[in-house]
Amino acid sequence: MEPFRFHLFVCTQQKPEGVPSCPANGSFAVLDVLDRETQARGLSDDVQLTTCGCMGLCDEGPVMVVYPAGVWYRRVKPSDVSEIVATYLGDGKPVERLVWNDAPAMKAMAVEHADKFRAAMAARDKAGMLPDRLEQMIRSYMPSRCILTALELDLFTAVGEGADAEHIGAKVHADPRAVGMLLNALVALGLLAKSGNDYKNTPDSARFFVQGSKDNHRNGLLHTANIWHRWSTLTDAVRTGTRVPIDRDDTRDWTRNFITGMQRNAKDRAPLVVKALGTAGIRRVLDLGGGSGAYSIAFAKASPDVRCEILDVPEVVPLTAEYVRQAGVSEQVSLRSGDMLQGDFGSGYDIIMLNAICHMFSEEQNRDIFCRAHRALAPNGRLVVQDFILNPDKAGPQHAALFSLNMLVATDAGATYSEPEYTQWMKAAGFSDVCRINLPGPSGLIVGRVTSN
Ligand SMILES: C[S@@+](CC[C@H](N)C(=O)[O-])C[C@H]1O[C@@H](n2cnc3c(N)ncnc32)[C@H](O)[C@@H]1O
Ligand code: FES
Repeated sequence: MEPFRFHLFVCTQQKPEGVPSCPANGSFAVLDVLDRETQARGLSDDVQLTTCGCMGLCDEGPVMVVYPAGVWYRRVKPSDVSEIVATYLGDGKPVERLVWNDAPAMKAMAVEHADKFRAAMAARDKAGMLPDRLEQMIRSYMPSRCILTALELDLFTAVGEGADAEHIGAKVHADPRAVGMLLNALVALGLLAKSGNDYKNTPDSARFFVQGSKDNHRNGLLHTANIWHRWSTLTDAVRTGTRVPIDRDDTRDWTRNFITGMQRNAKDRAPLVVKALGTAGIRRVLDLGGGSGAYSIAFAKASPDVRCEILDVPEVVPLTAEYVRQAGVSEQVSLRSGDMLQGDFGSGYDIIMLNAICHMFSEEQNRDIFCRAHRALAPNGRLVVQDFILNPDKAGPQHAALFSLNMLVATDAGATYSEPEYTQWMKAAGFSDVCRINLPGPSGLIVGRVTSN
């Protein structure tokens, strides 16, 4: 059975630098063009494009095999793709100059490769060498730090339409030799291109990292850069059990970067949450720690009958007001300055939302918020927690487990929590029908209802 007319496998096996491989010869670029060309020619439903691991023919890469006919292509370049798609995928004629059909030679090469690979692995194992995957995990801070430093210096903006290290260094007020080293590393990471002494932004860098570009994420990512400094205190935080002071002036622009970062995460997610909850019968929503207002804005846009109140700290509320005004929903969304850790929330709400809030607080603080939320909800009203939810054993999913440490280094008593914990706290606060709603992406919802008597 063949569900597709053509099934293309393109090898994308990553190998250590210097070892021949399909990605080193450009297989990702080939894959990218294949995807675009098949779409452009309306072949997406006929062609299934799949990445695959090493086929043992690495010196001849990028290698691609097409089924059901079993046609093997080697040394495919992005510039060959259009011809392959137009001829072979169009009328079934293989592009002969790229076809490799010497089966005995291919098999001999693959077997020799497999033998060498096994022997090398056995020798490394015997010598007690650190496996590549551990090396890579340990050193993964290096690329991360390069990008964050470039963002902190606003280097991508300084690169602009293209310049040399001296000009870029002068623009960012940094040492030209060191800037040159950073620029070269960014080229090696695929975030800049170099021609002679000049550096240029790649399309992704120009789109996402340059100030003034429509999809610029720099301000939100500067929050990640701030958090990076906190992560370097992890060892002391684990020793002491809470965040430790850091010797750095990271409070400048902290709030704005933080809320920009929150908005970046929330704006696409908010409509999904609103859809999962529904708007039928919803009149009043309380958005605790509403930050950028993304969730209230999504509710207001989903239904003209909904009125939302956002409660946030005084230094954030003016920023929230900007987002609400820009979204054109000021009539439906009102703002309140305050501290959600104390006082009454009011009464008669149909929904109280805690989006990305509970991880900032301790178990006791969350239990207390849940109890006050229960009192503030109307009969049948719902408390909604959106967060990174840990498995019952708390050892996964990976993002939720890592994020717990994010909260250890950044807060007094925050952590991520498991579904059984949230369920237990909600029930203890008086909620019933407690259930989990899974969403695409790393966070999920836990929802509890106030039973009407
Ligand atoms: C992680 S952000 C989440 C923002 C928003 N709910 C979202 O998902 O995009 C936490 C928000 O809670 C606010 N916040 C933190 N402590 C607070 C408190 N004690 N009272 C009110 N708001 C608080 C922060 O200012 C921030 O806007
Ligand atoms: S890396 Fe592609 S065939 Fe080996």
